[in-house]
Amino acid sequence: MKPHYLVIGAGGQLGREFCTFFEQHSISYTGLTSKDLDITDSDAIDHILNSILPNVVINCAAYTQVDKAEDDKDRCFAVNRDAVGNLATNCATKSIKLVHYSTDYVFSGTEEDHLTFPEGYPTKQRGNPSGVYGKSKWEGEELIRESGVNHLIIRVAWLCGQFGHNFVKTMMRLGAERDELNVVSDQVGAPSFASQVVEQTMLLLDKDSNGTRHIASDGEISWFDLAKETMKIAELNCRVNAIRTEDYPTRAARPRFSRLDCSQTVGETSKPMGDWKQHLKQLIKQIKQN
Ligand SMILES: NC(=O)c1ccc[n+]([C@@H]2O[C@H](COP(=O)([O-])OP(=O)(O)OC[C@H]3O[C@@H](n4cnc5c(N)ncnc54)[C@H](OP(=O)(O)O)[C@@H]3O)[C@@H](O)[C@H]2O)c1
Repeated sequence: MKPHYLVIGAGGQLGREFCTFFEQHSISYTGLTSKDLDITDSDAIDHILNSILPNVVINCAAYTQVDKAEDDKDRCFAVNRDAVGNLATNCATKSIKLVHYSTDYVFSGTEEDHLTFPEGYPTKQRGNPSGVYGKSKWEGEELIRESGVNHLIIRVAWLCGQFGHNFVKTMMRLGAERDELNVVSDQVGAPSFASQVVEQTMLLLDKDSNGTRHIASDGEISWFDLAKETMKIAELNCRVNAIRTEDYPTRAARPRFSRLDCSQTVGETSKPMGDWKQHLKQLIKQIKQN
């Protein structure tokens, strides 16, 4: 029998990408937005799992406002840690596979780590987050591992897709409005594209992989590089100036180094992550068509 998927957080950037994929491929799924299901409500989780009886839960719900989290710690931990731990325990009891998304923010992202892990953080590296968001996501991961549930924890970075809010869409909007923009050039990583995340996740599920995996494009770039290439591909006449992190203060510190080593994922899916510029071209085409 083919599996039935339950997408939680179906109204977000990644959740919508999953639902679109399932629609396009006529795959049996249920998508629940935050209005349909609040993951911090443990009774509601139990009721939904009992009534929908999914084989796989894909949890795209998260508290993702990195700066706001610094002043909204309780809510951030309630969604990213406690609710995730409860979901994992409940899925374990019901023998449901749990796919959960995490982030490069679970690592410290220091220059020192950049030198230690030039190809990106390995999946097995212990988290060492600095901000509230990163801590909440790391502790959520740990609760999944402790629950004994059959799981995939998939870390992504700089997530960009056709839906919701992300850096590429912001650059396209600002690039159409302004003549020039300042973007930081001393924070490096590689973007995860939502369509690529869905495709690689489905391949990992096909292989019955479990544990922690990484999904991000090949290469290492800065936000400045990503902004410049976005303007070029989108044919926007906006000059991009490189600035330093110190010149763009944020409430929560941003990692200087966000690269994730994806070799384990590629080894299992046999699908290369692919060049970020190719993914970016496809995404911009998609955004323009929508
Ligand atoms: N965006 C990135 O750059 C990035 C980078 C690395 C990792 N990630 C991770 O990737 C995953 C997907 O991120 P995304 O960009 O798709 O995030 P997103 O667009 O912010 O979507 C998150 C969704 O979760 C929902 N949500 C929040 N609290 C909830 C609750 N208590 N119950 C049910 N739903 C709730 C939100 O609904 P409302 O909008 O109604 O609150 C929203 O639809 C997350 O785990 C995130 O931590 C993201």
